[in-house]
Amino acid sequence: MNTSIRNELFRSGPKVGENRTKNALLLTATSTTEAQEGDNNAKALKRTLSAQRESEYTNAKEFPRNDMSEFRRACEKVKQFMLGDNELKTIRDRLLENMRRGLDREGHKSAKVKMLPSFVTHLPDGRECGTFIALDLGGTNFRVLLIDINEEQIDMDSQIYRVPQECMTGTGEALFDHIAKCMSDFINRMGFADRNIACGFTFSFPCEQYAINSASLITWTKGFSASDVEGKDVVTLLTEAVARRGDITVEIVAVVNDTVGTLMSCAFEDHACQIGLIAGTGSNACYMEKQSNITKLDELQDIDGKMCINMEWGAFGDDGALDEWTTEYDRVLDANSVHPTKQRFEKMMAGMYIGEIVRLILLDMCKEGIVFTEDALEILETPESFGTHMVSQIVDNQPRHFAAVQNILACADIGAIRRDCEIVHMVCDAVSRRAAYMCAAGISAIAIKIHQNRPDEYLDITCGVDGSVYKKHPTFAKLLKVKTNELVGLGIFVNFRLSHDGSGKGAALVSAVSTR
Ligand code: GLC
Repeated sequence: MNTSIRNELFRSGPKVGENRTKNALLLTATSTTEAQEGDNNAKALKRTLSAQRESEYTNAKEFPRNDMSEFRRACEKVKQFMLGDNELKTIRDRLLENMRRGLDREGHKSAKVKMLPSFVTHLPDGRECGTFIALDLGGTNFRVLLIDINEEQIDMDSQIYRVPQECMTGTGEALFDHIAKCMSDFINRMGFADRNIACGFTFSFPCEQYAINSASLITWTKGFSASDVEGKDVVTLLTEAVARRGDITVEIVAVVNDTVGTLMSCAFEDHACQIGLIAGTGSNACYMEKQSNITKLDELQDIDGKMCINMEWGAFGDDGALDEWTTEYDRVLDANSVHPTKQRFEKMMAGMYIGEIVRLILLDMCKEGIVFTEDALEILETPESFGTHMVSQIVDNQPRHFAAVQNILACADIGAIRRDCEIVHMVCDAVSRRAAYMCAAGISAIAIKIHQNRPDEYLDITCGVDGSVYKKHPTFAKLLKVKTNELVGLGIFVNFRLSHDGSGKGAALVSAVSTR
């Protein structure tokens, strides 16, 4: 049977389709039956057939849903996630405007995109060396690394520790005690307990910095909400937690955002790298900006020099700038999140949220009878039952290979027929595509901003990237690269480079640069 006919059968209302198949079989049987058993039987069969046809039409009327197939109704809902180039250019230009405001002496006071100075003024140049401990806190896992930088080469060992939910949302003291305990455990395992060792701290949250080794948390983001940390210097909090233990001696010499760490570690290998991007649990970017453009800085370190700016672009849209592209699902996701009304741009594209958006769409479709049966409702109503890793696995298959999608859904206890699988694939693809395109709008805004500093030259730059969505999602990286270069305009090319362990290694590199 050819595919289109087969699909047609699957797409028709179940009863109508069933009858058509039965009729076809009966019609084939007719000629043999007539020959063998004569006219009477043939007449009886004809009567049966016409009765069946009649009931087929009656059934069709009883199923008004067939006027518009489930698939088409699903397409209608998914359409709002498909952003065209003109819309992406508007988003890009609004972000550019927000960037300018965030750097401005007056404008920054009300700016949602914070454009935070990192006090990192130089990228690594290969002269860095030394042995450092690096800490990487920003998601559900916390990593401690021992990093040895020597003659353009980096050796490292590390261990991953879990950050229990109660530490993320409990007291700040419990959180920093947990970090200090993991540090102590690792330093002891590495045999460095009796040495005084310099430490770089990657702390992946928005911080106001006044120097490379002090950072005051502005507000928690992602799943964190530990008490008594906002407004405090996280270097002091960690130093105090280490002192409470008294079993290790570390000096925190630098604190950096993960985007800054990623840029630093990528720039160590590629001198054209000027942008750092995290596409993981959260989403954010940083870039090297001319210090003379950062008019909000009280004291410029070097009027002709540059400084790395941690944009905190996740908060773009918190003033309504993205409302035209915010769907009902984004609004529900935001209302149920740990930090409602905050991080609207991030919530449209980060790993912490992609699976949740898909779940909310499928829940709505299931309630309206477009996908699955009502047996799936209980699972779809459970928050986080549809992980971003499932979205990646589903997009990794072609819709026509529906058995693979069916298996992925079966693992989550969701029973699906072919049409369900096709719809699920389409939803996962649309949500992932919007995430990649939003990110591309962001990177193109940065590239244009950098180009405005040197408009007479061709700008060929590298963006260093780290994060699970970039590394593990099957189409995100490609869509991001292609769309960014479509949005940047003439005279600019942005290359993307995966920065393995970037955020951790970067903190050690910043420490090395600052102790150079
Ligand atoms: C969140 C944080 C930001 C971090 C990003 C990626 O957006 O606010 O600081 O860079 O997640 O981890």
